[in-house]
Amino acid sequence: MRILGLVGATHDSGLALLQDGQPEFILEEERFNREKRTKLFPKRSIRCALGYDAEGLADVDVITTPWDMVRLRWTFLRAVAGRLPWSLSLLLQQTRTPQSNDIVLLQHFLSRKFRRVFGITKLPPIVNVGHHDSHAATFFVSPFDEAVVLVMDGFGDDAATSVYIGRGNKLERLWHTSIFNSLGMVYTFVTKHLGFGGFSEEGKVMALAAYGDDTFTERFRDVVRPAPDGRYVVNMDYFSFDAFGELRPFTRKFLDAFGPPRLPGEPLTDRHRDLARALQVVTEEIVLHIARDLRERTGMRAICLTGGVALNCVANARVLAESGFEHVWVPPCASDTGAPFGSALWHHHQTLGKPRRFEMRHAFYGKGYRDSEIERALSQAGLAAERLETPELLRRAAHDLAAGKIVGWFQGRAEIGPRALGNRSLLADPRNVEMKDKINLRVKHREPFRPFAPAVLVERASEFFHLNQPDPFMTLAPRVRGDKAHLIPAAVHVDGTGRIQTVERDANPRYYGVIEEFAKITGVPVLLNTSFNRQEPIVQSPQEAISCYLRTGIDALALGNFYTTDRNAHASSRAADEAQRRMHSPERRRIMANARKAQILV
Ligand SMILES: [Fe+2]
Repeated sequence: MRILGLVGATHDSGLALLQDGQPEFILEEERFNREKRTKLFPKRSIRCALGYDAEGLADVDVITTPWDMVRLRWTFLRAVAGRLPWSLSLLLQQTRTPQSNDIVLLQHFLSRKFRRVFGITKLPPIVNVGHHDSHAATFFVSPFDEAVVLVMDGFGDDAATSVYIGRGNKLERLWHTSIFNSLGMVYTFVTKHLGFGGFSEEGKVMALAAYGDDTFTERFRDVVRPAPDGRYVVNMDYFSFDAFGELRPFTRKFLDAFGPPRLPGEPLTDRHRDLARALQVVTEEIVLHIARDLRERTGMRAICLTGGVALNCVANARVLAESGFEHVWVPPCASDTGAPFGSALWHHHQTLGKPRRFEMRHAFYGKGYRDSEIERALSQAGLAAERLETPELLRRAAHDLAAGKIVGWFQGRAEIGPRALGNRSLLADPRNVEMKDKINLRVKHREPFRPFAPAVLVERASEFFHLNQPDPFMTLAPRVRGDKAHLIPAAVHVDGTGRIQTVERDANPRYYGVIEEFAKITGVPVLLNTSFNRQEPIVQSPQEAISCYLRTGIDALALGNFYTTDRNAHASSRAADEAQRRMHSPERRRIMANARKAQILV
């Protein structure tokens, strides 16, 4: 059984190709077309998974989509009719930028695009899977035979929060909230209010919250309230997104209580930090409230968290520490990047009743490159590189890291989801407190309040962090142990937590190996890990890695077994030219125009 999960016309377009329940590819189109959270038809992902002319489609039995068109149209009609005449504005595209109007005709959109791009007129049957059903279906690749599954995102085709019980190869939905009763949407709109890109930069607000005080926290508890039945209620006295969408999400009451929006370029003040804190604290309280109730009600010991809200690793860590659940699992693609994968899983297990045989132990289902392709990219860039045997590569990289160098680490197949997990990563020494500023200054140019993540050998994680389970996908932010924080100061956020990733040898031997070598030199089994990019989607190809290396202050570059510190002027100027050419290509201009229209920051 070969299933292609596919989505376009909404943010995070991409695909997953499933063979008998096991992923062969999970691909995000943004990695190919370089537009963050792109909505465009995922033609490059299709070429990667199915061949240049999508000829592999002939072997696909079913195409699944993570949106149920019937539910979506009903929900949309009800929303438009909800607060007449104002809610008529929801017909305007500008009121809901993450999705194009084509989403309500997704089936036709996909058929049309296959015809135009690949000349294919006969498609396998297309099956619509519910949006939250798709998120929930990642339970089928979790380590648990039975678990509660909590799905929270902005909104799906009929809900903003859903709770499922998963047992074996079946999921059953217990309850759900309406699309406007959405903690995720509240988070996104307050993120925009604070001057960041909504639908993409919520993580910045999560980081900023650690710097705030509780000036607004009590007041914010009136904005989203826990309900006695284990659910929650968004107080719509503060919001008008149910009538005006993104055009006017807040009422006067919200603005009076929390102040005006932060304008572009305006400095961050205590008010902004305090509002971020209020939002984060209340989000944590609501997620905990739901989780505690579910733990009590079901008696289950494990919970899967998914949907975009599950990217909130601070809230996730509190669920593990305080809800009563003994195990928490979050997939690496909890946001809509995993929705096509989930839709395929739902069809395979829930609809067809196939048994579970696969557990997701790593996230490396993206595109990989052969050595010959890496070699060609290096020679085209005019860079001299040594080809090292693996043990020597690990030793050399670890030695450079211990000497304070920033190493671009490009290995194997790209990881899926929004976080770099060791195959498209920048690595650095966590022992030096100034390393964060150094990476920011020389490579990332991120806001100084954002932390970098520690990657730690799984066997030694509990020695450094208050954590009693693995977290291979960087989904929890546990507290760093007091007696160890001084050893890894660059990896400790201001609130004393670390956005941990535990690394297992089996899941990624090379990544494990470089941390292990670093530990041999320094005694510290932890490396600083951040995504290999600079204000762009994570690099995917060797060319993009080389270009990023040459345009920034990365000290050394490991591309597969090739290692270079060469940085000749000729190569650097060619990389700059190439970046310039890409920036002004017709396709790039179209992408930028789309992004501006959608107000998504690229
Ligand atoms: Fe979603």
